[in-house]
Parts: sequence; C-alpha cells; structure tokens
Amino acid sequence: MSFDPRSIPVDPAASSALARHGLEYRLLDPDDHDAMHAWIEAEHRGFHHARPRDVERDHGLTVAAERRVHGVYDPQAAEPAVPVATVAGWPTGLSVPGGRSVDAWAVSAVTVAATHRRRGIARALMEGELANAHNAGAAVAMLTVTEATIYGRYGYAPAARAATVTVNRQRAHWVGPDAPGRVHFVEPADLRETAAAITRRAVARTPGEIDRWPGILDRALGLVDPQGDAARRVRTVRYDDEHGQAQGFVAYRITREPNEPGVVEFDFLVAATDDAERALWQFLVEQDFVTGVRGRLRSVDEPLPWLLEDPRAVTLTDVVDHLWVRILDPVEALGARRYGIAGTLDLEIADPLQHASGRFRLVVGERGRAEVERLDDTAAPARQALKLGVQELGAVYLGGVRPSVLARAARITAPAAGSLALADRMFAADRTPHLSIWF
Ligand SMILES: CC(C)(COP(=O)(O)OP(=O)(O)OC[C@H]1O[C@@H](n2cnc3c(N)ncnc32)[C@H](O)[C@@H]1OP(=O)(O)O)[C@@H](O)C(=O)NCCC(=O)NCCS
Repeated sequence: MSFDPRSIPVDPAASSALARHGLEYRLLDPDDHDAMHAWIEAEHRGFHHARPRDVERDHGLTVAAERRVHGVYDPQAAEPAVPVATVAGWPTGLSVPGGRSVDAWAVSAVTVAATHRRRGIARALMEGELANAHNAGAAVAMLTVTEATIYGRYGYAPAARAATVTVNRQRAHWVGPDAPGRVHFVEPADLRETAAAITRRAVARTPGEIDRWPGILDRALGLVDPQGDAARRVRTVRYDDEHGQAQGFVAYRITREPNEPGVVEFDFLVAATDDAERALWQFLVEQDFVTGVRGRLRSVDEPLPWLLEDPRAVTLTDVVDHLWVRILDPVEALGARRYGIAGTLDLEIADPLQHASGRFRLVVGERGRAEVERLDDTAAPARQALKLGVQELGAVYLGGVRPSVLARAARITAPAAGSLALADRMFAADRTPHLSIWF
C-alpha cells in the first residue's frame, strides 16, 4: 500500500462520538510543528515517560511524517492546545506464513490523559483506527500492547509471542558450525543504510514481522541522540557472507560496574540468513569479561540452545503475547498466507463490530495456496466447518496458536469430527511467528 495515509477522510463516527463529550477529533498536519510538539508531549505523558528532550521531539516529527496522527482536544481544558488523547496509524506489510506479506494497518501511540479516562475516548479512537484501516484497504489491523486486557474487545488477539533470552556465559560452549563469512565492527551511522536493507530481507523470512519500522532503526543504532549516554554505549557489528554481502547485524551494549565483568544486552539482532543468525549469536556469547548475554523480544523458538553444548545455558523469561492481530477482511487475509496441508474448511466467523463476520470457504491446494470465498446464506455447509470469533481467527492466523488449543478453551466449535485436526495442520506455519520490535 503506497499512498498517503492522511488522504483518508476523518472517520465521522469517531468524530461524532467524541463531539458528544464536547471533544474535538483532529487529524494532525505533520508540518504544523507546534501542534505536533504538543501531541508528542501528550503521548510521552500518556505512557508515563519523562518529557521528551529536543532531539526526541525532532525525531518524533520525522516519525509522524510517515503516519496518520490523530489527537483529541478539550476546548475547556486549561491547556487546550495539548491533546487529551493520542493515536497514530500507518499502512505496512505484515509477513505471513509462506514468505509473502499482507496489507496491514499498524496502530500505535494509544493514550488517554489521566484527567479524561473512562468516558469512551479510547473506544472512539480504536474504532476510528479500524475504519482507517478498512478505508486504507488493509486486510488486518495490528498493534503491540502494554496491557493485555484492553484490545480484545475491538477484535484483536495475540498472534505472535516474544521472550527475553538469557545466556549464561560460563556454560555457553559453542558447538555449532562456524559461519563461512566474517563479523566486522561498523560504526552505527555507517551501518544505517545497510541495516535497512538487511531488515527488509529479514522481515520477509518470519511471519509476524512488519515491514515498515518508522524511526525504529535510528533509535536502535543510537542515531536519534548520538551524544546521549545510552547511544554512546551502542556497538554495532555486521555479518558479511563468504561473498562479502552484508547479511545481518546486531546493535548491543555492555553494561558493567568498575572491576566487574559486564552483561551483553541487545534488542536488535537482525539476520537475513541462518548463517548470519548463527555468526552473530556466536559473536555475542563468546565475549570475554562478561557473565552473560540478554536479548529482548527474541523468538520463543530460537535455534540457540541447539548451537551450545549445554542447552541449559539458555533461559527464556518474560514470554509475552507481543503482536496482536485483528482480521478485517477474511478473504484477503486468509488468501495471502500459505497453508500446511491441502483441504477444504468452512469458517463461520462472528465479529461484534461486523468487519469480518460471515461464512467463508477456504480451499487449499497441493502447494499450500488458498482460494477463499465468502459464502452466501444459501450455500450448503461443508462437512469440515469451524465456528469462531474474529479474535480466535486473529490468534490462529499466523500459525502461532493451534485451533485445537482454542477448541479446548471452548473458544472454537468444531461440529464435524476431524475438522480440528485438519485445521491444526492447515494453519501450521513453516516458521514460528515472531515480532522483534515494539511499534
Ligand atoms: C488504556 C487507555 C488508553 C484507556 O482509555 P479510556 O479512554 O479510559 O478507555 P475507554 O473509556 O474508551 O474504555 C474502553 C473500554 O476499555 C476498558 N478499559 C479501559 N482501560 C482499561 C485498562 N487499563 N484495562 C482494562 N480495560 C480497560 C473500559 O472499561 C471500556 O470497556 P467497555 O468498552 O467494555 O465498557 C488509557 O487508560 C491510557 O491511556 N492508559 C495509559 C497508556 C496505555 O496503557 N496505553 C495503551 C498502550 S498499549
């Protein structure tokens, strides 16, 4: 989807829901720097962050230029130019099983001021974002969440998990193969362009990754405020394959006290090939004068334990639902991914907000490709039919949750014997879904 997300008309339903409370719903112009600065201040306050410094506000302006940014304003407030609620959305691809991506809408920056909570502002904004997503032609909306109790009511469900991976340096003896290429130290600014190219390829390999990361690489590489304390700690290495092609990078820092060994910490290890992934892990776990390595938002299915003599050197903590997915258009969404096995399945989907409700037939051929059609009321039901809500559809969509698990939780009904087993095998993904960033 390459269009200006600001070209979509302002959602009239959200506008009138907020107007009933005397509030104004405004689409911001990213060139209106005063309004944008106030919005960025409000977003920081809403997330309980410190006030942004000038460099962070400037970075916020660049990020906002790639998004559709809304604020809610209270003309009666003491500071009417500061929004009492914020939200941002943008079109991006979401990688799905089989190596393709589906048109999606990312939702972010959902905050409501502590003075204005529990009067329906978040609901108006969230329903507004679903309308924006629909108008943008997105088959799916998605977000990452700080609290897991808020977004289910709008049809979102956890679809890809993430975890903190900790490696005990003393126990980490590498037994995996040495990669054929080389690891090089590269200054973060020099890596910026290559990092973006590697990221694009890495994202395509993993269901659950999204392909537009406004502003995130600059943050990861410490380029937003290069003179800041945190940024000066960032070290970056790049893996080049045996032909000299850059295939991966990691941005890490070593935290330590004087005279004590440190801990390697990283949020970004991005690999476009398996060799690159192994080489970068090996580089990290073989550091001297460190007690361990800690990587955040890693896959729950890392190959790392299989590369070390002692798999117990690796522990997973903070395993969380990370990516939440909301299906808007089942025909487009289901048609975009590949499936694990051929078969025919009818899905009867209930969606309280009506975007995805209806009966759909999924016919998967030998190569995992699907034909999906909406059934009208007169169509005869297939033997293999599942009844599920839009949340359950979002949960199984990327292959991270088995339909039979949701049936055991009484969240999917399968009237025909065998249909659950078929659904499990059809929805299985070739790679465990994973999202490696917050957005
Ligand atoms: C979470 C937040 C956005 C909710 O805003 P709000 O305007 O008070 O929410 P609404 O009044 O529109 O409530 C919508 C629904 O969410 C529920 N809800 C609101 N906040 C909730 C919370 N923290 N936990 C669980 N449910 C919540 C309401 O009960 C209501 O439910 P209903 O529609 O079923 O009756 C707001 O509290 C906030 O800004 N929190 C801090 C920032 C944050 O956590 N943002 C989320 C980032 S992922």
